[in-house]
Amino acid sequence: MEKHIFLLILLFLIQFSISLASSNETDQQALLAFQNLITSPNHFLANNWTKNTSFCSWYGVTCTPKSQRVVALDLPNLQLQGTISPSLANLSFLGVLNLQNNSFRGGIPYGLGHMPRLRVIDVKNNQLNGSIPTSLFQNRRVQVISLAFNELSGEMWRGPWYVPKLRVLNLRNNSLTGIIPPSVGNATKLLNINLSGNRINGNIPMEISNLSQLAFLFLLDNQLTGSIPPTLFNISSLLGISLSFNGLSGPLLLDEGNIVSNLKHLSMSFNQISGCIPSNICQLTELKLLSISFNNITGHIPRNIGCLSKLERFYIGENPIEGTIPTSLGNISTLQYLDCVDNWMKGKFLKN
Ligand SMILES: *[C@@H]1O[C@H](CO)[C@@H](O)[C@H](O)[C@H]1NC(C)=O
Ligand SMILES: *[C@@H]1O[C@H](CO)[C@@H](O)[C@H](O)[C@H]1NC(C)=O
Ligand SMILES: *[C@@H]1O[C@H](CO)[C@@H](O)[C@H](O)[C@H]1NC(C)=O
Ligand SMILES: *[C@@H]1O[C@H](CO)[C@@H](O)[C@H](O)[C@H]1NC(C)=O
Ligand SMILES: *[C@@H]1O[C@H](CO)[C@@H](O)[C@H](O)[C@H]1NC(C)=O
Ligand SMILES: *[C@@H]1O[C@H](CO)[C@@H](O)[C@H](O)[C@H]1NC(C)=O
Ligand SMILES: *[C@@H]1O[C@H](CO)[C@@H](O)[C@H](O)[C@H]1NC(C)=O
Ligand SMILES: *[C@@H]1O[C@H](CO)[C@@H](O)[C@H](O)[C@H]1NC(C)=O
Ligand SMILES: *[C@@H]1O[C@H](CO)[C@@H](O)[C@H](O)[C@H]1NC(C)=O
Ligand SMILES: *[C@@H]1O[C@H](CO)[C@@H](O)[C@H](O)[C@H]1NC(C)=O
Ligand SMILES: *[C@@H]1O[C@H](CO)[C@@H](O)[C@H](O)[C@H]1NC(C)=O
Ligand SMILES: *[C@@H]1O[C@H](CO)[C@@H](O)[C@H](O)[C@H]1NC(C)=O
Repeated sequence: MEKHIFLLILLFLIQFSISLASSNETDQQALLAFQNLITSPNHFLANNWTKNTSFCSWYGVTCTPKSQRVVALDLPNLQLQGTISPSLANLSFLGVLNLQNNSFRGGIPYGLGHMPRLRVIDVKNNQLNGSIPTSLFQNRRVQVISLAFNELSGEMWRGPWYVPKLRVLNLRNNSLTGIIPPSVGNATKLLNINLSGNRINGNIPMEISNLSQLAFLFLLDNQLTGSIPPTLFNISSLLGISLSFNGLSGPLLLDEGNIVSNLKHLSMSFNQISGCIPSNICQLTELKLLSISFNNITGHIPRNIGCLSKLERFYIGENPIEGTIPTSLGNISTLQYLDCVDNWMKGKFLKN
């Protein structure tokens, strides 16, 4: 009997401590520990986040109405200085973490990647360094990862990406190295990838063509090599591709057969792309900007280039292109800018 009572009490104590471990008390402690590591102009945050008011009324904090748990922490543009406390990982209901455009230093705590309800992490425009927690690429819920304009280094995560809900991956302007792993093709909800301004090398993996909802692919200013997967142009949701300032080579090829393209901007200047402009480029019917200057493109411009009837800007300068400027180019009424400086072309361009 006594033993039973003892067990019951023990059970009660365990229950109690579990509910304590995950309660709005924990949230308050986590926020205070976070606040402890930062300074704000005129101690604005220290004066606002005081224990005599509920943390749910603190500046930048949003709670669930009933259980008073923190669901969003929005502290952008506040000139906050300091490091991001690992205690934030204890905010087990947090869905949105927005610390963009402050002066946070140091690393991104590993635990943030494991937060069970995290949908948005936006810490762009700070001075964060170290590597990206690999846990972020294993998060079932995360939809937006924006770490752009920091000083993050280390290799892109090569292991399997398990981010079935990820829509935006913005890692622009850091110092990331390594490759774009083939498992990127498993992140099938991706709409917007921006890895521009890093030191990423290797090929553009073929699997990127599996991203059937992709709208923007920005890989500008990296160290990518190899050829552009032709299947890329068969993603009908794509609106913009920028591959300029890399070491890409091989020919510019579109997939054989029929494709449906909505691509408006295609730029791949400053690479070593060779071969001719393929005549089936006509399938890119929505193209407004085509930039292929500073490459190694040879042959003639296809005579039917006038088929790109919505073209506004066309950059083909600094290529060993031969022949004459096709007259059909003059039929494009939307064309505003043509750059063909330093080609081997002869003849006059007549705009109709
Ligand atoms: C903290 O900031 C919020 C939002 O601006 C404001 O409503 C609240 O009164 C402030 N609390 C204190 C104690 O300053
Ligand atoms: C809360 O406490 C701080 C000191 O910790 C005090 O300066 C502030 O006036 C108090 N605010 C309210 C609303 O009572
Ligand atoms: C924590 O939640 C309880 C009810 O669950 C509420 O009475 C209490 O005021 C909350 N504490 C804070 C600091 O919000
Ligand atoms: C960044 O925050 C500062 C204030 O801290 C503000 O003046 C500036 O406009 C913000 N920049 C952006 C891009 O929001
Ligand atoms: C999370 O909360 C628990 C319980 O309050 C605490 O022991 C632990 O140190 C916290 N973790 C971090 C990283 O602050
Ligand atoms: C990050 O920057 C801090 C200075 O802010 C430095 O002490 C630390 O060594 C850096 N860490 C890495 C991994 O570069
Ligand atoms: C993609 O996901 C599937 C199922 O989770 C897995 O079997 C496969 O290895 C993954 N592919 C890559 C390249 O990671
Ligand atoms: C990409 O899609 C093809 C089928 O179209 C499939 O065989 C392949 O496993 C997929 N790769 C990834 C990485 O999801
Ligand atoms: C991605 O980077 C390019 C420049 O490299 C920029 O034009 C574009 O707006 C960026 N997109 C996002 C979502 O940051
Ligand atoms: C982003 O990086 C590019 C070079 O990679 C640089 O030219 C540009 O100034 C950077 N932008 C910012 C805002 O740091
Ligand atoms: C383009 O993709 C569609 C599916 O979205 C597929 O049916 C078609 O065969 C592909 N075309 C080429 C030329 O690969
Ligand atoms: C340009 O392409 C030609 C073949 O078309 C090749 O012989 C030459 O090496 C290439 N030049 C560069 C700089 O890649």
